[in-house]
Amino acid sequence: MVKGARRRGGPGGGAAGGVSPGWAEGVWPLIDARTLRARVQALGRAITRDYAGRAPTLICVLKGASLFFADLVRAIELPVELEFIAVSSYAGATESSGEVRISADVTHPLAGRDVVLVEDIVDTGLTASFLLDLLQARGPRSLTVCTLLEKPSRARTRVDVAYRGFVIDDVFVVGYGLDHAERWRNLPYLGVVRRTTPSGRARRGRSAAARRPRR
Ligand code: IMP
Ligand code: MG
Repeated sequence: MVKGARRRGGPGGGAAGGVSPGWAEGVWPLIDARTLRARVQALGRAITRDYAGRAPTLICVLKGASLFFADLVRAIELPVELEFIAVSSYAGATESSGEVRISADVTHPLAGRDVVLVEDIVDTGLTASFLLDLLQARGPRSLTVCTLLEKPSRARTRVDVAYRGFVIDDVFVVGYGLDHAERWRNLPYLGVVRRTTPSGRARRGRSAAARRPRR
């Protein structure tokens, strides 16, 4: 059983409490769909507040952030521009190679824009750090990071995260866009792949850590 997971099932909550449906056998539920939804709404409100009067460019880091991004942008009540960037740092393993490869880039210039980089997870931080350097070189007016998940125990480099959904332990998670060897992205909740320890706990990201964009 996963500590911190809700024991409510059904369509609204996802597979809460500990049992995944047959097609996702091998995954321990960690954060149910209802909890995800509430947190993403809160992040959307924070971004709406912090960027009031602006039209930020939100960049989705594919593929992992895709589902989070789709929900997040609909929780933001501002005119936004959406961009996508595709990177790969893992080749089916659960450890970062440290090598980041860009396989698709954004389509518009970022100079003078307020940019929010939307990540699924900051694990070692190597990917986010690489992308921040890349994007900063393009002259945005401001550049912040919004991540659904952060695993601080795994950090190999410091990443300044302005908006975070949940802080999790050192477990490998799947679902809600995140995969293991391309599987389980379409799970509507977050779970832990069973061959890693099922004792992961999730804490809500501290919104106090959210900072306003640089003006
Ligand atoms: P980092 O460079 O180690 O911070 O991680 C980069 C990428 O690895 C993330 O954007 C994810 O796509 C992937 N990743 C890291 N941890 C996990 C996990 O627990 N589950 C699924 N993907 C992960
Ligand atoms: Mg990813």
